[in-house]
Amino acid sequence: MKTMTKEKTILGQPTADWKEEVVYQIYPKSFSDSNNDGIGDLKGITAKLDYLKELGVTMLWICPIFTSPMVDNGYDIADYQAIQPEFGTMADLEELIAAAKEKGMKIMLDLVVNHSSDEHEWFQKALADSQSPYRDYYIFKKGQAGNPPNNWRSIFGGSVWEPVANEADMYYFHTFDKKQPDLNWENPALRQEIYQMINWWLDKGIAGFRIDSITFIKKDQDYGDVPPDGSDGLGSVKVKTRNRPGIEKFLAELNQETFRQHDCVSVGEAPGVPYEQFDQYIGPDGYFNMIFDFHYADIDVENGSEWFRQTKWQPQDLKELMVKSQEAIQANGWGANFLENHDQPRSLSKYITDKNYQNAIGAKALGTLFFFLRGTPFIYQGQEIGMKNFQRTSLADFNDVSSIDNYHRSIQEGYTKEQALGFVNQRSRDNTRTPFQWDASATAGFSQTATPWMKLVGDQQEVNAADQVNHEQSVFHYYQQMIQLRNHSDYRNTLIYGQFQSLGADPAIIAYERIGQERIQVIVNLSNQPQHFDGAGELLLSNYPDTPASSEQWQLQPYQALVLRKEDHHE
Ligand code: GLC
Ligand code: CA
Repeated sequence: MKTMTKEKTILGQPTADWKEEVVYQIYPKSFSDSNNDGIGDLKGITAKLDYLKELGVTMLWICPIFTSPMVDNGYDIADYQAIQPEFGTMADLEELIAAAKEKGMKIMLDLVVNHSSDEHEWFQKALADSQSPYRDYYIFKKGQAGNPPNNWRSIFGGSVWEPVANEADMYYFHTFDKKQPDLNWENPALRQEIYQMINWWLDKGIAGFRIDSITFIKKDQDYGDVPPDGSDGLGSVKVKTRNRPGIEKFLAELNQETFRQHDCVSVGEAPGVPYEQFDQYIGPDGYFNMIFDFHYADIDVENGSEWFRQTKWQPQDLKELMVKSQEAIQANGWGANFLENHDQPRSLSKYITDKNYQNAIGAKALGTLFFFLRGTPFIYQGQEIGMKNFQRTSLADFNDVSSIDNYHRSIQEGYTKEQALGFVNQRSRDNTRTPFQWDASATAGFSQTATPWMKLVGDQQEVNAADQVNHEQSVFHYYQQMIQLRNHSDYRNTLIYGQFQSLGADPAIIAYERIGQERIQVIVNLSNQPQHFDGAGELLLSNYPDTPASSEQWQLQPYQALVLRKEDHHE
């Protein structure tokens, strides 16, 4: 229902705190290790708040820190209301929230409610007694004559059905790893339990949640087979479990019972939502404040699927996808823009195809491209110093469950071991999960002396925060400048609330405009060849020194990015 209270608007757009934030995503296991056990922790984050403050971000999203066997590094939760000991204690979290608040930063946590860990008390009770009320918190089904109930392939490989020990022909369902059984959202008692837990956290004073895998909570109730799409005879679970009819009831109720009752931010991880449905997700009565759109993040793999299904994309393709995404979000609500996250490889390695520019120039070009899009920018740890992918030579060096699965799936589909390792190096989620490079030392300053839980990329001599904070031309300083321009300059209103409009340019250039009190143009040459751009403007920011302060015809160097204030021609 529409309320009669007058909303505050800027440039005709309703304002909101969460539209003005600059969010920084932290993968706690790999950010900073305060007690030298080789694993990042909460105290480590608290110790680095000054660095984050200096960068200028206003909100932190911390990936799961709850009790967990860590099969999927915390996305397998055994207790939603307690902290995993290797990360610290509840007191450490409270201290972090308070210390961040003092510095003007808010904390957002990760909400994983499509599934729990198999070590969660609910699941243990469900296993122990088939008559337990907790049985219906999960999805148990009889097999078909010794076979699993259907042919769905889990996101991390193999059947979604895991046999239950000591119960003949009985299986439980998991969209992801077998140690991540799905919660049964059809059960109202389960839903109420989840809402209480969410409200408990929101009452505790966190700023809100990023909501994990939320488009998977509704399964087609026929549990029927899908057409096989690989030589394993299975078909992707997504076909019948991702953004399926009926999900609207669960999502509306979730919003109504939790987020709406609080002054908080909600960001949905919502892959598989077509643009025609963005209104339901992020419209005025949407389920979330904003969602992540993956249409261009997965440009290098067909439909964001298995990693051996690679595409040969061109800058124009990226431009088209980006523009489509921005237009769809603008028509409906607000978006969460990102280049990287803990499930993606490093953006420098993905989007900059000429290795010679996988450096500060390339990192700043990509930063410019995404940071001024309409929406709330999310910076992933290490992106602000231009960290890159690793090159591993052995599968044993990988931790990510999905990397190990993709390796075996590639071989199953007929690729050689070398090719399989190539795909995994390129796409592994471990690429963004390596320890943060604080300095040039052997541990990159992540731990004092302990061997970090995951092998470093190895290039901390060239890429590290300590060098960059002291160096005017660094990627770090550039990110500082971008944040300054968006949030604290005279162009703030236009850069936050202005309309997005794509700008025509040569195929290798991605260009757009933000239209408000003035027109701000962003022009990025996404090629290793010089390009031209015509248009009178005053230079606000560039990734190349010695760019003219104003011009009508811009000569763009390889991977050059410009932010211009458009100059009007007076007749
Ligand atoms: C989300 C998370 C990913 C995790 C998966 C299962 O996609 O971002 O890291 O593995 O959900 O929870
Ligand atoms: Ca530690």
